[in-house]
Amino acid sequence: MCGIVAYVGHRKASDVIIKGLKRLEYRGYDSAGIALLNGGLNIYKKKGKVSELENFIQGQNLDSHIGIGHTRWATHGEPSDENAHPHYSATKKLAIIHNGIIENYSSLKQDLLRKGHQFASETDTEVFIHFIEDIQEKENCPLDEAVRLALTKVVGAYAIVVMSLAEPDLLIAARKGSPLVVGVGKNEFFMASDATPIIEYTNEVVYLNDQEIAVINHGELKIKNTANLPLTPYIQTIDLELEAIEKGGYEHFMLKEIFEQPRSIRDCMRGRLDTHTGRLVLGGLREYVNKLVNADRILIVACGTSWHAGLVAEYFFEEFCRIPVEVEYASEFRYRNPVIREGDVVIAVSQSGETADTLAAIEMAKAKGAIIFGVCNVVGSSIPRATHAGAYTHAGPEIGVASTKAFTAQLTVLNMIALIVAQKKGTITEQKFHELLVEMENIPAKVEQVLKLNNQIQTIADEFKQARNFIYLGRGYNFPVALEGALKLKEISYIHAEGYPAAEMKHGPIALIDEEMPVVFIATKDASYEKVVSNIQEVKARKGRVISIVTEGDTLIPKMSEFVIEVPATLDPLMPMVSVIPLQLLSYHIAVMRGCNVDQPRNLAKSVTVE
Ligand code: G6P
Repeated sequence: MCGIVAYVGHRKASDVIIKGLKRLEYRGYDSAGIALLNGGLNIYKKKGKVSELENFIQGQNLDSHIGIGHTRWATHGEPSDENAHPHYSATKKLAIIHNGIIENYSSLKQDLLRKGHQFASETDTEVFIHFIEDIQEKENCPLDEAVRLALTKVVGAYAIVVMSLAEPDLLIAARKGSPLVVGVGKNEFFMASDATPIIEYTNEVVYLNDQEIAVINHGELKIKNTANLPLTPYIQTIDLELEAIEKGGYEHFMLKEIFEQPRSIRDCMRGRLDTHTGRLVLGGLREYVNKLVNADRILIVACGTSWHAGLVAEYFFEEFCRIPVEVEYASEFRYRNPVIREGDVVIAVSQSGETADTLAAIEMAKAKGAIIFGVCNVVGSSIPRATHAGAYTHAGPEIGVASTKAFTAQLTVLNMIALIVAQKKGTITEQKFHELLVEMENIPAKVEQVLKLNNQIQTIADEFKQARNFIYLGRGYNFPVALEGALKLKEISYIHAEGYPAAEMKHGPIALIDEEMPVVFIATKDASYEKVVSNIQEVKARKGRVISIVTEGDTLIPKMSEFVIEVPATLDPLMPMVSVIPLQLLSYHIAVMRGCNVDQPRNLAKSVTVE
């Protein structure tokens, strides 16, 4: 997490950087800072949001053509003015911004303390810039060489940018494990954690790879690696519209992204699924698709909402491909020496493509010989680059920290992969295949229909906005939806919520049910409908307050529920894409009514690039 932005060129650097930091605020928002060359190397930083920093610097003379800025999500040291980035070196002639963790900072710090260094913060980052300067003084070398030497000695993950008082046209950036994009403009350069602060000025970018160092000096970009090998910058043109990263009239990004789902699901299927010809293709899979067809087992690794998408995919793959599937939390998988055999295929699911645990799980499985597929949203991010093959979700930038449109797009891609495999494997009838294809095409319209219930859901939210707990229950394909509904609520409204398989409720959560407990049933007409009806009775018998998501036309469950939300019918395996929508809206409205910052919930970050 943490967002970094840097600029050198003919514009006022502070304007470019502050605007860029606001775009990156989803990556972290507990403090922010900026360093400029305006009559000296000056750092301005503040605890809180970028707007606090903006107020703080207002009215000051900030004229500088070069600068670096940072928005922080604390790892080492609590959020405070001191711990905010940028950080100075010992002589205050260098400044750094950093995203990531330097794991061996403590031993480096001990050495520096012995040499008499004093530190103004508790951060690993400040140690890092002192260490770079120490090397430069010792080796009497150019700054880029000192940075390179320092990087060969640090352990951990980083994306850094360094600037210097002595060299007013120099920016040095490097990455390992944390993303960094260089924007190449006309006589100007930008650097950022992702392309969103850059696209307003240029769509020509260079994605740095791990262990690469970018040196921008006197209007020239050079790239080398930490082994000192010069590399040719690979400039790509990115296709990202400014309006995709703006709120477009909605009060929050989250609401905009919920409402974008009919479009994002369509975009995800565009050119890939065609019911007229019965054609389903995913270009990125072609070369490796037989690995999936012949897989003995599929391991899905992911975190958070992406993990929930993986759980839905488990049901889908097992039903139609008849391949055993295990869905793993990337953070657990990577550390428990899992059994990975020849014939196992790993699918990594990630919106950002930068989640540190998912990335590490991929590397570990790759080292054990597994073939890895990626299902990611952010084009050019680290995970797609680390996998053998994969498919993008094409949902467009997701800025709200709570994931919504990425989830439905992930389901769309995972379903398409499973259908391709099932067809090739012969584990699905042509009729069923076609039926699913046609219904996939109908999903965006059905999502649109659910979005029309926004006002009704707002009324329900009003009724429950003061609740202290919530339970979400579902079975079969709707069980992961229950988990996702509960996660959305806790993430943004800070109400404690549990998602559970409806039948498993009897083995514990039922003890929590009393007349104050809202219980959300995802109770659409599917294979487990009758069973869910019994589970609703169990809750009612204990006076729980039942809110049910039902299939249009259901007459039984509405009689047993205090509130009912009707969604259009669809095939069971596709229902999660429809039934999750009211749950996204319910959490959104509850959070807004509670005065929570839905786009930037406390303690969370959009992409967790530290483990
Ligand atoms: C963070 C975000 C979640 C997200 C999870 C996995 O915790 O707040 O919304 O689901 O990371 O992120 P990924 O980018 O890998 O899908």
